[in-house]
Amino acid sequence: MSTLYLVVMPIVPGLHQYYFSQQAQTYATYEIPLLGHIVFGSIALILGALNLVSGLRARTGSTHRRLGLGYTLAVAISAPCAMFMAFHAYPGTIPGGQWIVTSGFFTLALVWLATLVLAVHAITVRHDVAAHRFWMIVSFSLTFVAVVLRVENGILLATGTFETLYPFLAWIAWIPNLVIAMLLARRLNRSRVNRGSSSSASLTLVNEQRA
Ligand code: HEM
Repeated sequence: MSTLYLVVMPIVPGLHQYYFSQQAQTYATYEIPLLGHIVFGSIALILGALNLVSGLRARTGSTHRRLGLGYTLAVAISAPCAMFMAFHAYPGTIPGGQWIVTSGFFTLALVWLATLVLAVHAITVRHDVAAHRFWMIVSFSLTFVAVVLRVENGILLATGTFETLYPFLAWIAWIPNLVIAMLLARRLNRSRVNRGSSSSASLTLVNEQRA
């Protein structure tokens, strides 16, 4: 999707006729926040996925910190752009559609930022590895909404319900992700504590940071 907006559409602008033509004018008007959102959202999706790969995380702490800084900056730029775009999101054809879509995307962007702040605060101020792991997993589950939303969007298009149901995606695409990620992250932290690795991991990370 990002390649479509960043590479293909600038070369073949007529393509917008065939994909999300309802928003072609809006996206042309608000090109900077839209592109800021897409470029940095894509960077967050790539860096976040890389940083959750256990092998890479374990190999070097400094790579993990660099990727984490990149992820943090990317979300910190993409989320405010998303908040702005929420006010111009497609309302569909149902009554109250604008309110549903704007409130959904705006709340998602707020929660996306909040989980990032909690994750960064946990490690930089409190040196709490378990809390950092918990909030980063939750944060990435929200970044991953970009993928879930497009899959659900495809279902709406295939079933001919896009015009009426699109605004609901702004809520439906992320609440299950958030709940599942919180349950999984809590279970992961519990199993680490049970194995007794949490405290030693904390010490290793704190020592690395001091070094
Ligand atoms: C998780 C928080 C996110 C929020 C709150 C959010 C919000 C939005 C909003 C409000 C729009 C405009 C929708 C409309 O016109 O109806 C949009 C479009 C878009 N966003 Fe996001 N977004 C998020 C994550 C991401 C990420 C991580 C990516 C990239 C990987 C991304 C890629 C896009 C793209 C490509 C569009 C263009 C619309 C389309 O063709 O689907 N978004 N987003």
